Amino acid sequence: MRHFLWLVDFTKEEIKEIISLAIQIKKETKAGIFKPYLKHNQLAMIFEKSSTRTRVSFEVGINQLGGNGLFLSSRDIQLGRGEPLKDTARVISRMVDLIMIRTFGQERLEEFAKYSKVPVINGLTDLCHPVQLLADLLTMIEFDKFDFENPSKTTAAYIGDGNNMAHSWLILASKLGFNINIATPKGYEIDEKIKEIALNEAKNSGAIIEFTNDPKTAIKDVDVVVTDTWVSMGQEDEKEKRLKDFQGYEINNELMSLAKKDAIFMHCLPAYRGYEVSEDVFEKYENVIFTEAENRLHAQKGLMVWLKK
Ligand code: CP
Ligand code: NVA
Repeated sequence: MRHFLWLVDFTKEEIKEIISLAIQIKKETKAGIFKPYLKHNQLAMIFEKSSTRTRVSFEVGINQLGGNGLFLSSRDIQLGRGEPLKDTARVISRMVDLIMIRTFGQERLEEFAKYSKVPVINGLTDLCHPVQLLADLLTMIEFDKFDFENPSKTTAAYIGDGNNMAHSWLILASKLGFNINIATPKGYEIDEKIKEIALNEAKNSGAIIEFTNDPKTAIKDVDVVVTDTWVSMGQEDEKEKRLKDFQGYEINNELMSLAKKDAIFMHCLPAYRGYEVSEDVFEKYENVIFTEAENRLHAQKGLMVWLKK
């Protein structure tokens, strides 16, 4: 049995297998073919934080695969009233076939997985958001920005907070061998442990990784530009300070003009215009961004089928 806790646990080959399944199932879905790959499978979805995309994509995804999804908000289940995580894991995993959990610390996810009898999927933690990166990878492939056979042809720039999305992009690049420039303001750099893991992975994959505090340097001549909110869930109290500290990090036309002419802009959403991205850049790339959002559905269907095969 495998869990999907972070991309570090997966090889390039395994990531490719998941994406291939996603591509195949997306094609079938678009042709109106709904094969019951996970007939009668129950997916429990535990949310300790808000969600639009993750909730809808997992619930629709499992239904389209012939199974059923249970939305469990921590506000409604006993977990929110102090029932231990390990008891919740032992109870739920005796009744369902797959569990997705969105929580705070990665250690909560790891503890849950330790006590679960069935595969556990990370639906976002403070440390990383790996299901988002499966969708992002699928989107890069569809927009001709990534090829498993030629990963070094791609250079991405992540510009913004050194958060769960930054960590996930860095891990993916270092695993697959595409290049990535990461620009964060001083004091918002990425986690040192993640950095070390990525630099190690890059020795095998050949990915070139650059860290800087200058967005202009990071974005120069890249193929893919990525950002994320400056204020993640749980950081609401720091909003005022963060908005000041991130000045100069907005992805606007001026900054985008430094990337390659045919570069794409990606965002996991929700997006805050006038902060991490300007309205015009957002709307210019809306087809990429909403394909990326839709691909959450397809990528996660590939993942769920892969985990249960
Ligand atoms: N991108 C993403 O995970 O969105 P939600 O928070 O709406 O699930
Ligand atoms: N970094 C954001 C991602 C939201 C999908 C957060 O954790 O809130």
